[in-house]
Amino acid sequence: MNKISDLFFNKGCLLNLKKENKKKINFSKIKEIFRSKGIIIFRNINLNKNNLISFTDNFSHSYANDAARRSKRFGSDFIRNVDSGNQKIDLHSEASFSPSCPEIIWFYCVKPAKKSGKTLLCDGVSLWNSLNLETKNFFLSNQISYKLKIPYLEKKIKKSRKKWYLPYEGINNCFVNFKTGEIEIDYNKYAVHKTIMPTRNLAFANHLFISLKSEPQLIRRTLRNNRRIPAKFLKEIYYKAEKNTYKIMLKKNDLIMIDNHRFMHGREEILKTEKRDIINIQTLSSNI
Ligand SMILES: [Fe+2]
Repeated sequence: MNKISDLFFNKGCLLNLKKENKKKINFSKIKEIFRSKGIIIFRNINLNKNNLISFTDNFSHSYANDAARRSKRFGSDFIRNVDSGNQKIDLHSEASFSPSCPEIIWFYCVKPAKKSGKTLLCDGVSLWNSLNLETKNFFLSNQISYKLKIPYLEKKIKKSRKKWYLPYEGINNCFVNFKTGEIEIDYNKYAVHKTIMPTRNLAFANHLFISLKSEPQLIRRTLRNNRRIPAKFLKEIYYKAEKNTYKIMLKKNDLIMIDNHRFMHGREEILKTEKRDIINIQTLSSNI
């Protein structure tokens, strides 16, 4: 067991499985490590389309299926391509603007790029610890409001819009729009929250770093009182996140297991001359 980076609180965990008997993986030990480290890289795990989901099943009650824009892989509803395109993708906690924010996200590297497209990783616990007192107090006392339009029904069933209900805390102004086929909600939540660490440290992991354009469902992002987040706080979180970001070039057959409520991830730009193949699985509800 090796560390991944000193930038992470508890340094993360890299397990090189090359010489071990992979059938003897101790899953309860892995869960214990994961609770405290929040990220594990399984190196040389060498999974394939038949046993990738059977591995992640050991940690999953259910999978998220909201990544419909990504194409399916290996004939599975739960294995998707990482977003297409070559552009840089800023840090984010996957779907953290929505009530169906996955608990664990997995990336499996089928084929790495040679020199571009590094994966960005930022531990929300380290980031939170690095923030100024005033910034911490601001985010502890102000919720973020994410205005969402979530595709739900076939379009144009009726020409009406009516009040609806979704059973999640923080939902406000919930409507179903039969004309557009969308559920419309304002989803309010804090940008910082408790982790599953035994010490329940706070993590700053959210959707404040990435452009709204990258997520079609996300229409607006403000404070709960409809005001903008003050620029001085944004400036600080962007600066500190950059300082706390670890960039890793994944290797072939690396599987990364990430606590999505604690860590944010992103991607550097991929050179047009290069191609990488990384697939993604999202555990909505885990058994950790
Ligand atoms: Fe993502």
